[in-house]
Amino acid sequence: MDISLIISGGILLGCAIGLSWFAGSDAPYVPTKIDNIRRILKLGGVKKGKKFYELGSGDGRVVIQAAKLKADSVGIEQSWIRVFYSRYTAAKNKINNAKFAHGNIFAKNYDNADVVYIYLLTQAVKRLEIKLKKELKKGAIAITQTYHFQYWKPFKKIDNFWLYRR
Ligand SMILES: C[S@@+](CC[C@H](N)C(=O)[O-])C[C@H]1O[C@@H](n2cnc3c(N)ncnc32)[C@H](O)[C@@H]1O
Repeated sequence: MDISLIISGGILLGCAIGLSWFAGSDAPYVPTKIDNIRRILKLGGVKKGKKFYELGSGDGRVVIQAAKLKADSVGIEQSWIRVFYSRYTAAKNKINNAKFAHGNIFAKNYDNADVVYIYLLTQAVKRLEIKLKKELKKGAIAITQTYHFQYWKPFKKIDNFWLYRR
């Protein structure tokens, strides 16, 4: 094979990976610190029989914790490289109840969610406040991190996590 073809292919692949790394129209990739996330998820009622969504799931760490609490867990993420990595981590740890979808969180409806977790920037959180107020069923829980809903009153605030009940 021609060496210039191999180099061009390598450059293209590098660009695709780089672009995917910086994907995320509503927040850059900053992972949640995992220390107390289990406690927060439990407070949000994440357990067997519940449907959990993470909107912008990064490397999949929160979805995997929710899956370990036995919830049917789904992460939606715009960066395919992070989706790929999340799927790999779940498979490596033999976690079957964590699924990862590549796509835009605003293209999906969350009416079957019991718990949603959000760590995104202010503009996206504002849009989600309106969207989730319309779509979530009664009793569903939303958890925000660092950037919070403007009008929806939380029933609990712990560290930089706020929990809301629909
Ligand atoms: C601040 S990071 C949080 C990652 C993860 N939720 C966590 O807490 O560890 C935001 C993530 O959301 C993703 N993201 C941003 N806008 C998005 C959108 N509109 N649809 C899907 N994913 C998005 C980014 O690619 C990034 O991985």
